[in-house]
Amino acid sequence: MSERVIALLDQRPPILPLPPLLAEQDLSALPVDRLRRPLTDLRISVTDRCNFRCSYCMPKEVFDKDYAYLPHDQLLSFEEITRIASVFVDRGVRKIRLTGGEPLLRKNIEILIAQLAALRTPDGQALDLTLTTNGSLLARKAQSLKDAGLQRVTVSLDGLDDAVFRQMNDVDFPVTDVLAGIEAARAAGLGPIKVNMVVKRGTNDHEILSMARHFRGTGIVLRFIEYMDVGATNGWRMDEVLPSAEVIRLLQTELPLVQLDPSAPGETAERWGYADAQGLYDPTLGEIGVISSVTQAFCGDCNRARLSTEGRLYLCLFASQGYDLRQLLRDPTKSNGELAATVDAIWRGRHDQYSVLRSQQGADTTHAPSRRVEMSYIGG
Ligand code: GTP
Ligand code: 5AD
Ligand code: SF4
Ligand code: SF4
Repeated sequence: MSERVIALLDQRPPILPLPPLLAEQDLSALPVDRLRRPLTDLRISVTDRCNFRCSYCMPKEVFDKDYAYLPHDQLLSFEEITRIASVFVDRGVRKIRLTGGEPLLRKNIEILIAQLAALRTPDGQALDLTLTTNGSLLARKAQSLKDAGLQRVTVSLDGLDDAVFRQMNDVDFPVTDVLAGIEAARAAGLGPIKVNMVVKRGTNDHEILSMARHFRGTGIVLRFIEYMDVGATNGWRMDEVLPSAEVIRLLQTELPLVQLDPSAPGETAERWGYADAQGLYDPTLGEIGVISSVTQAFCGDCNRARLSTEGRLYLCLFASQGYDLRQLLRDPTKSNGELAATVDAIWRGRHDQYSVLRSQQGADTTHAPSRRVEMSYIGG
Protein backbone atom coordinates (compact mmCIF):
# COMPACT_ATOMS: atom_id res chain seq x y z
CA MET A 1 0.00 0.00 0.00
CA SER A 2 1.43 3.35 -0.93
CA GLU A 3 0.83 6.37 1.23
CA ARG A 4 0.45 9.82 -0.17
CA VAL A 5 3.24 12.00 1.06
CA ILE A 6 2.49 15.67 1.47
CA ALA A 7 5.56 17.82 1.58
CA LEU A 8 5.27 20.07 4.59
CA LEU A 9 6.91 23.14 3.23
CA ASP A 10 7.00 26.11 5.56
CA GLN A 11 5.78 28.75 3.18
CA ARG A 12 6.66 31.48 5.62
CA PRO A 13 9.92 33.29 5.15
CA PRO A 14 12.72 33.12 7.69
CA ILE A 15 12.88 35.29 10.75
CA LEU A 16 15.30 38.20 11.03
CA PRO A 17 17.31 38.64 14.21
CA LEU A 18 15.99 41.36 16.49
CA PRO A 19 18.31 44.36 16.70
CA PRO A 20 20.53 44.58 19.77
CA LEU A 21 19.24 47.15 22.24
CA LEU A 22 21.39 49.72 23.90
CA ALA A 23 21.03 49.77 27.66
CA GLU A 24 19.67 53.30 27.55
CA GLN A 25 17.98 53.69 24.20
CA ASP A 26 16.74 57.25 23.72
CA LEU A 27 13.03 57.16 22.93
CA SER A 28 12.41 60.87 23.25
CA ALA A 29 12.18 61.38 19.47
CA LEU A 30 9.96 59.35 17.16
CA PRO A 31 11.89 57.11 14.76
CA VAL A 32 12.46 57.77 11.08
CA ASP A 33 13.93 55.09 8.84
CA ARG A 34 17.10 55.31 6.75
CA LEU A 35 15.15 57.09 4.01
CA ARG A 36 13.80 59.54 6.63
CA ARG A 37 10.28 58.10 6.56
CA PRO A 38 8.24 58.19 9.80
CA LEU A 39 6.21 55.28 11.15
CA THR A 40 2.56 56.34 11.17
CA ASP A 41 0.52 53.47 9.74
CA LEU A 42 0.19 49.93 11.14
CA ARG A 43 -1.62 47.17 9.27
CA ILE A 44 -2.52 44.17 11.38
CA SER A 45 -3.48 40.90 9.77
CA VAL A 46 -5.86 39.06 12.08
CA THR A 47 -6.24 35.86 10.06
CA ASP A 48 -4.49 34.25 7.10
CA ARG A 49 -7.75 32.66 5.96
CA CYS A 50 -10.28 33.95 3.48
CA ASN A 51 -13.57 32.68 2.06
CA PHE A 52 -12.67 34.07 -1.39
CA ARG A 53 -10.01 32.82 -3.79
CA CYS A 54 -9.17 35.91 -5.86
CA SER A 55 -6.62 34.64 -8.35
CA TYR A 56 -4.35 37.65 -7.76
CA CYS A 57 -4.14 36.91 -4.05
CA MET A 58 -5.09 33.33 -3.03
CA PRO A 59 -5.22 31.25 -6.21
CA LYS A 60 -7.26 28.07 -5.74
CA GLU A 61 -4.50 25.78 -6.97
CA VAL A 62 -2.23 26.87 -4.11
CA PHE A 63 -4.73 27.70 -1.36
CA ASP A 64 -6.52 24.36 -1.55
CA LYS A 65 -7.78 22.05 1.17
CA ASP A 66 -4.23 20.91 1.97
CA TYR A 67 -2.86 24.39 2.46
CA ALA A 68 -1.22 24.79 5.87
CA TYR A 69 -2.84 27.79 7.51
CA LEU A 70 -1.51 28.94 10.85
CA PRO A 71 -2.74 26.90 13.80
CA HIS A 72 -4.73 28.82 16.38
CA ASP A 73 -2.05 28.86 19.08
CA GLN A 74 0.33 30.60 16.70
CA LEU A 75 -1.99 33.60 16.28
CA LEU A 76 -1.56 36.65 18.43
CA SER A 77 -4.35 36.92 20.98
CA PHE A 78 -6.43 40.11 21.09
CA GLU A 79 -4.57 41.13 24.25
CA GLU A 80 -1.23 40.63 22.52
CA ILE A 81 -2.37 42.58 19.47
CA THR A 82 -3.62 45.45 21.60
CA ARG A 83 -0.44 45.54 23.63
CA ILE A 84 1.84 45.65 20.60
CA ALA A 85 -0.48 48.18 18.91
CA SER A 86 -0.14 50.46 21.94
CA VAL A 87 3.64 50.18 21.62
CA PHE A 88 3.42 51.21 17.95
CA VAL A 89 1.19 54.14 18.92
CA ASP A 90 3.87 55.18 21.37
CA ARG A 91 6.35 55.12 18.46
CA GLY A 92 4.25 57.29 16.15
CA VAL A 93 1.45 55.19 14.64
CA ARG A 94 -1.77 57.14 14.09
CA LYS A 95 -3.68 54.83 11.73
CA ILE A 96 -4.46 51.17 12.32
CA ARG A 97 -5.95 49.00 9.60
CA LEU A 98 -7.17 45.48 10.32
CA THR A 99 -6.69 43.14 7.38
CA GLY A 100 -6.41 39.46 6.61
CA GLY A 101 -7.07 37.22 4.75
CA GLU A 102 -10.61 38.27 5.54
CA PRO A 103 -10.61 39.96 8.94
CA LEU A 104 -14.30 39.42 9.57
CA LEU A 105 -13.62 35.67 9.70
CA ARG A 106 -11.67 36.15 12.96
CA LYS A 107 -14.03 35.15 15.78
CA ASN A 108 -15.18 38.01 18.01
CA ILE A 109 -13.27 40.63 16.02
CA GLU A 110 -15.54 43.23 17.65
CA ILE A 111 -13.76 42.61 20.96
CA LEU A 112 -10.40 43.47 19.39
CA ILE A 113 -11.90 46.55 17.73
CA ALA A 114 -13.22 47.78 21.06
CA GLN A 115 -9.78 47.34 22.64
CA LEU A 116 -8.03 49.18 19.79
CA ALA A 117 -10.66 51.93 19.75
CA ALA A 118 -9.81 52.66 23.38
CA LEU A 119 -6.13 53.38 22.59
CA ARG A 120 -5.02 57.00 22.68
CA THR A 121 -2.03 58.80 21.21
CA PRO A 122 0.38 60.43 23.68
CA ASP A 123 -1.57 63.69 23.20
CA GLY A 124 -4.91 62.02 23.90
CA GLN A 125 -6.27 61.57 20.37
CA ALA A 126 -8.19 58.50 19.15
CA LEU A 127 -6.64 56.58 16.24
CA ASP A 128 -7.87 56.34 12.68
CA LEU A 129 -9.20 52.78 13.02
CA THR A 130 -10.27 51.04 9.85
CA LEU A 131 -10.61 47.63 8.26
CA THR A 132 -10.31 46.12 4.78
CA THR A 133 -12.93 43.50 3.97
CA ASN A 134 -14.23 41.55 1.00
CA GLY A 135 -17.71 42.57 2.16
CA SER A 136 -19.15 39.08 2.27
CA LEU A 137 -20.03 39.28 5.98
CA LEU A 138 -20.51 43.01 6.15
CA ALA A 139 -24.31 43.10 5.86
CA ARG A 140 -24.45 40.98 9.00
CA LYS A 141 -21.63 42.72 10.90
CA ALA A 142 -21.65 46.42 9.97
CA GLN A 143 -23.66 47.57 12.98
CA SER A 144 -21.73 45.53 15.55
CA LEU A 145 -18.44 46.79 14.08
CA LYS A 146 -19.63 50.36 14.37
CA ASP A 147 -20.87 49.78 17.92
CA ALA A 148 -17.48 48.35 18.85
CA GLY A 149 -15.77 51.58 17.75
CA LEU A 150 -14.66 50.96 14.16
CA GLN A 151 -14.62 54.26 12.27
CA ARG A 152 -14.67 53.23 8.62
CA VAL A 153 -14.29 50.35 6.20
CA THR A 154 -12.70 49.72 2.82
CA VAL A 155 -14.45 47.09 0.73
CA SER A 156 -12.77 45.13 -2.05
CA LEU A 157 -15.01 44.85 -5.12
CA ASP A 158 -13.64 43.92 -8.53
CA GLY A 159 -16.73 44.33 -10.69
CA LEU A 160 -20.47 44.92 -10.71
CA ASP A 161 -21.38 42.34 -13.30
CA ASP A 162 -22.28 39.22 -11.37
CA ALA A 163 -20.49 36.82 -13.72
CA VAL A 164 -17.30 38.89 -13.66
CA PHE A 165 -17.44 39.24 -9.89
CA ARG A 166 -17.93 35.50 -9.40
CA GLN A 167 -14.99 34.87 -11.69
CA MET A 168 -12.80 37.28 -9.73
CA ASN A 169 -13.62 35.82 -6.29
CA ASP A 170 -13.49 32.30 -7.77
CA VAL A 171 -15.88 30.87 -5.17
CA ASP A 172 -19.07 31.85 -6.99
CA PHE A 173 -19.95 34.55 -4.47
CA PRO A 174 -22.76 36.84 -5.72
CA VAL A 175 -22.12 40.56 -6.10
CA THR A 176 -25.49 41.53 -4.60
CA ASP A 177 -24.35 40.36 -1.15
CA VAL A 178 -21.29 42.63 -1.25
CA LEU A 179 -23.41 45.56 -2.43
CA ALA A 180 -25.77 44.87 0.49
CA GLY A 181 -22.72 44.89 2.78
CA ILE A 182 -21.63 48.29 1.47
CA GLU A 183 -25.16 49.60 2.00
CA ALA A 184 -25.18 48.25 5.57
CA ALA A 185 -21.83 49.92 6.24
CA ARG A 186 -23.20 53.20 5.00
CA ALA A 187 -26.37 52.84 7.10
CA ALA A 188 -24.23 52.10 10.17
CA GLY A 189 -22.11 55.23 9.56
CA LEU A 190 -18.84 53.42 8.80
CA GLY A 191 -17.62 56.18 6.52
CA PRO A 192 -15.98 57.53 4.53
CA ILE A 193 -16.31 54.19 2.73
CA LYS A 194 -13.72 53.27 0.12
CA VAL A 195 -14.11 50.59 -2.53
CA ASN A 196 -10.92 48.98 -3.88
CA MET A 197 -10.98 47.43 -7.34
CA VAL A 198 -7.94 45.47 -8.50
CA VAL A 199 -7.85 45.80 -12.29
CA LYS A 200 -6.58 42.87 -14.33
CA ARG A 201 -6.30 43.63 -18.02
CA GLY A 202 -8.45 41.26 -20.03
CA THR A 203 -10.39 40.05 -16.98
CA ASN A 204 -12.28 42.93 -15.39
CA ASP A 205 -11.07 46.10 -17.14
CA HIS A 206 -14.38 46.33 -19.01
CA GLU A 207 -16.01 46.97 -15.59
CA ILE A 208 -14.12 50.21 -14.94
CA LEU A 209 -16.68 52.58 -16.38
CA SER A 210 -19.72 50.87 -14.87
CA MET A 211 -18.03 50.84 -11.46
CA ALA A 212 -17.31 54.57 -11.79
CA ARG A 213 -20.87 55.37 -12.87
CA HIS A 214 -22.27 53.30 -10.01
CA PHE A 215 -20.29 55.03 -7.24
CA ARG A 216 -20.14 58.57 -8.66
CA GLY A 217 -22.14 60.96 -6.47
CA THR A 218 -22.60 58.43 -3.63
CA GLY A 219 -19.87 59.70 -1.31
CA ILE A 220 -18.09 56.35 -1.68
CA VAL A 221 -14.52 56.67 -2.97
CA LEU A 222 -13.73 54.11 -5.66
CA ARG A 223 -10.05 53.29 -6.10
CA PHE A 224 -8.52 51.43 -9.01
CA ILE A 225 -5.49 49.35 -8.07
CA GLU A 226 -2.83 48.12 -10.46
CA TYR A 227 -2.48 44.37 -10.26
CA MET A 228 0.76 43.82 -8.33
CA ASP A 229 3.49 41.18 -8.34
CA VAL A 230 3.00 40.64 -4.63
CA GLY A 231 3.57 37.19 -3.11
CA ALA A 232 4.92 34.23 -5.04
CA THR A 233 1.84 32.35 -6.16
CA ASN A 234 -0.33 34.54 -8.36
CA GLY A 235 1.57 34.04 -11.62
CA TRP A 236 1.81 37.79 -12.13
CA ARG A 237 2.51 39.06 -15.64
CA MET A 238 3.14 42.64 -16.69
CA ASP A 239 0.79 42.31 -19.65
CA GLU A 240 -2.11 41.82 -17.21
CA VAL A 241 -1.40 45.17 -15.53
CA LEU A 242 -3.53 48.05 -16.76
CA PRO A 243 -1.54 51.21 -15.97
CA SER A 244 -3.48 53.81 -13.98
CA ALA A 245 -2.81 56.37 -16.72
CA GLU A 246 -4.95 54.23 -19.02
CA VAL A 247 -7.69 53.98 -16.38
CA ILE A 248 -7.79 57.77 -16.11
CA ARG A 249 -7.80 58.17 -19.90
CA LEU A 250 -10.72 55.75 -20.20
CA LEU A 251 -12.74 57.46 -17.46
CA GLN A 252 -12.12 60.88 -19.01
CA THR A 253 -13.82 59.77 -22.23
CA GLU A 254 -17.13 59.85 -20.39
CA LEU A 255 -16.65 61.33 -16.91
CA PRO A 256 -14.37 64.40 -16.82
CA LEU A 257 -11.88 64.45 -13.95
CA VAL A 258 -9.50 66.93 -12.38
CA GLN A 259 -6.52 65.96 -10.29
CA LEU A 260 -6.79 66.72 -6.54
CA ASP A 261 -4.09 67.36 -3.96
CA PRO A 262 -3.05 64.49 -1.71
CA SER A 263 -4.99 64.43 1.55
CA ALA A 264 -2.19 62.95 3.68
CA PRO A 265 1.56 62.38 3.38
CA GLY A 266 2.46 58.87 2.24
CA GLU A 267 -0.96 58.28 0.68
CA THR A 268 -1.21 55.25 -1.62
CA ALA A 269 -3.76 56.72 -3.99
CA GLU A 270 -3.53 59.61 -6.40
CA ARG A 271 -6.86 61.48 -6.12
CA TRP A 272 -9.02 62.67 -8.97
CA GLY A 273 -12.30 64.60 -8.57
CA TYR A 274 -15.28 64.51 -10.91
CA ALA A 275 -15.63 67.81 -12.73
CA ASP A 276 -18.75 69.90 -13.35
CA ALA A 277 -19.75 71.44 -16.71
CA GLN A 278 -17.16 74.23 -16.16
CA GLY A 279 -14.41 71.68 -15.65
CA LEU A 280 -14.10 72.40 -11.92
CA TYR A 281 -14.12 69.79 -9.18
CA ASP A 282 -17.66 69.14 -8.02
CA PRO A 283 -17.60 67.72 -4.45
CA THR A 284 -21.17 66.48 -4.78
CA LEU A 285 -19.97 64.10 -7.49
CA GLY A 286 -17.05 62.98 -5.34
CA GLU A 287 -13.67 61.53 -6.22
CA ILE A 288 -11.86 58.42 -7.32
CA GLY A 289 -8.33 57.23 -6.65
CA VAL A 290 -5.70 55.32 -8.59
CA ILE A 291 -3.09 53.21 -6.82
CA SER A 292 -0.17 52.76 -9.17
CA SER A 293 2.35 50.66 -7.34
CA VAL A 294 3.62 49.10 -10.57
CA THR A 295 3.88 52.10 -12.90
CA GLN A 296 4.51 54.85 -10.33
CA ALA A 297 6.13 53.63 -7.16
CA PHE A 298 5.13 55.47 -4.01
CA CYS A 299 7.83 54.15 -1.67
CA GLY A 300 9.32 57.64 -1.20
CA ASP A 301 7.11 58.41 1.77
CA CYS A 302 5.95 54.92 2.72
CA ASN A 303 5.05 55.06 6.39
CA ARG A 304 3.47 51.59 6.67
CA ALA A 305 4.47 48.70 8.92
CA ARG A 306 2.75 45.32 8.73
CA LEU A 307 2.14 42.83 11.51
CA SER A 308 1.34 39.29 10.45
CA THR A 309 -1.26 37.11 12.15
CA GLU A 310 1.44 35.37 14.17
CA GLY A 311 3.15 38.57 15.24
CA ARG A 312 5.94 39.05 12.73
CA LEU A 313 6.76 42.57 11.72
CA TYR A 314 7.31 43.23 8.00
CA LEU A 315 8.68 46.53 6.75
CA CYS A 316 7.45 46.20 3.17
CA LEU A 317 4.61 44.48 1.33
CA PHE A 318 7.27 42.75 -0.73
CA ALA A 319 9.48 41.74 2.17
CA SER A 320 10.85 38.25 2.30
CA GLN A 321 11.77 38.33 5.99
CA GLY A 322 10.08 39.58 9.13
CA TYR A 323 10.91 40.17 12.80
CA ASP A 324 9.35 37.90 15.42
CA LEU A 325 7.68 40.24 17.90
CA ARG A 326 5.56 37.42 19.35
CA GLN A 327 8.65 36.01 21.01
CA LEU A 328 9.02 39.29 22.91
CA LEU A 329 5.31 39.54 23.69
CA ARG A 330 5.35 36.06 25.23
CA ASP A 331 8.50 36.66 27.26
CA PRO A 332 7.36 37.72 30.74
CA THR A 333 10.67 39.52 31.37
CA LYS A 334 10.08 42.02 28.54
CA SER A 335 8.49 45.35 29.41
CA ASN A 336 6.55 47.63 27.08
CA GLY A 337 9.56 49.93 27.16
CA GLU A 338 11.73 47.17 25.73
CA LEU A 339 9.13 46.41 23.07
CA ALA A 340 9.05 50.09 22.15
CA ALA A 341 12.84 50.22 21.96
CA THR A 342 12.85 47.18 19.68
CA VAL A 343 10.23 48.59 17.32
CA ASP A 344 12.11 51.89 17.31
CA ALA A 345 15.42 50.22 16.46
CA ILE A 346 13.87 48.06 13.72
CA TRP A 347 12.23 51.06 12.09
CA ARG A 348 15.42 53.12 12.24
CA GLY A 349 17.20 50.39 10.27
CA ARG A 350 14.54 50.18 7.53
CA HIS A 351 15.52 50.93 3.95
CA ASP A 352 12.86 49.01 1.95
CA GLN A 353 11.65 50.51 -1.30
CA TYR A 354 10.75 47.50 -3.37
CA SER A 355 8.56 49.18 -6.00
CA VAL A 356 11.15 51.85 -6.73
CA LEU A 357 13.88 49.26 -7.18
CA ARG A 358 11.64 47.06 -9.29
CA SER A 359 10.89 49.90 -11.67
CA GLN A 360 14.57 50.74 -11.91
CA GLN A 361 15.47 47.13 -12.61
CA GLY A 362 12.71 46.50 -15.13
CA ALA A 363 9.25 45.27 -14.44
CA ASP A 364 9.38 41.57 -15.11
CA THR A 365 10.08 39.81 -11.81
CA THR A 366 8.27 36.60 -12.74
CA HIS A 367 11.42 34.55 -13.01
CA ALA A 368 13.18 35.93 -9.98
CA PRO A 369 13.64 33.35 -7.24
CA SER A 370 11.39 34.50 -4.48
CA ARG A 371 10.22 33.65 -1.01
CA ARG A 372 8.14 36.75 -0.75
CA VAL A 373 5.32 36.67 1.76
CA GLU A 374 1.76 36.29 0.56
CA MET A 375 -0.61 39.21 0.86
CA SER A 376 -3.16 36.99 2.62
CA TYR A 377 -0.55 36.40 5.37
CA ILE A 378 0.81 39.89 5.73
CA GLY A 379 -2.34 41.89 4.92
CA GLY A 380 -3.02 44.36 2.08
P1 GTP B 1 -6.74 54.82 3.24
O1 GTP B 1 -6.26 55.28 4.56
O2 GTP B 1 -8.17 54.44 3.33
O3 GTP B 1 -6.45 55.73 2.11
O4 GTP B 1 -6.03 53.43 2.95
P2 GTP B 1 -4.79 52.96 2.16
O5 GTP B 1 -4.87 53.32 0.73
O6 GTP B 1 -3.58 53.34 2.91
O7 GTP B 1 -4.94 51.39 2.32
P3 GTP B 1 -5.61 50.27 1.50
O8 GTP B 1 -5.42 49.04 2.30
O9 GTP B 1 -7.00 50.61 1.13
O10 GTP B 1 -4.68 50.20 0.23
C1 GTP B 1 -5.21 49.95 -1.00
C2 GTP B 1 -4.34 49.04 -1.79
O11 GTP B 1 -3.12 49.70 -2.10
C3 GTP B 1 -3.93 47.77 -1.10
O12 GTP B 1 -4.90 46.79 -1.18
C4 GTP B 1 -2.70 47.41 -1.89
O13 GTP B 1 -3.09 46.83 -3.11
C5 GTP B 1 -2.10 48.77 -2.17
N1 GTP B 1 -1.13 49.14 -1.13
C6 GTP B 1 -1.40 49.54 0.14
N2 GTP B 1 -0.27 49.81 0.80
C7 GTP B 1 0.73 49.56 -0.06
C8 GTP B 1 2.13 49.65 0.04
O14 GTP B 1 2.68 50.03 1.06
N3 GTP B 1 2.85 49.30 -1.05
C9 GTP B 1 2.27 48.91 -2.18
N4 GTP B 1 3.08 48.59 -3.19
N5 GTP B 1 0.94 48.81 -2.33
C10 GTP B 1 0.18 49.13 -1.29
N1 5AD C 1 -2.40 43.31 -6.58
C1 5AD C 1 -3.03 44.41 -6.07
N2 5AD C 1 -3.77 44.40 -4.97
C2 5AD C 1 -3.90 43.24 -4.32
N3 5AD C 1 -4.57 42.91 -3.22
C3 5AD C 1 -4.38 41.59 -2.96
N4 5AD C 1 -3.61 41.06 -3.91
C4 5AD C 1 -3.28 42.05 -4.78
C5 5AD C 1 -2.51 42.13 -5.96
N5 5AD C 1 -1.88 41.06 -6.46
C6 5AD C 1 -5.30 43.88 -2.41
C7 5AD C 1 -6.59 44.30 -2.98
C8 5AD C 1 -7.61 43.72 -2.13
C9 5AD C 1 -6.88 43.76 -0.81
C10 5AD C 1 -7.41 42.84 0.23
O1 5AD C 1 -5.58 43.37 -1.14
O2 5AD C 1 -6.71 45.67 -2.82
O3 5AD C 1 -8.74 44.53 -2.15
FE1 SF4 D 1 -9.52 37.21 0.17
FE2 SF4 D 1 -9.07 39.80 -0.18
FE3 SF4 D 1 -7.25 38.00 -0.94
FE4 SF4 D 1 -9.52 38.18 -2.29
S1 SF4 D 1 -7.95 39.79 -2.10
S2 SF4 D 1 -8.55 36.27 -1.61
S3 SF4 D 1 -10.97 38.69 -0.69
S4 SF4 D 1 -7.88 38.40 1.14
FE1 SF4 E 1 6.16 50.70 1.03
FE2 SF4 E 1 7.31 48.48 0.14
FE3 SF4 E 1 4.99 49.34 -0.89
FE4 SF4 E 1 7.27 50.65 -1.38
S1 SF4 E 1 6.76 48.58 -2.04
S2 SF4 E 1 5.31 51.56 -0.86
S3 SF4 E 1 8.33 50.41 0.58
S4 SF4 E 1 5.34 48.66 1.21
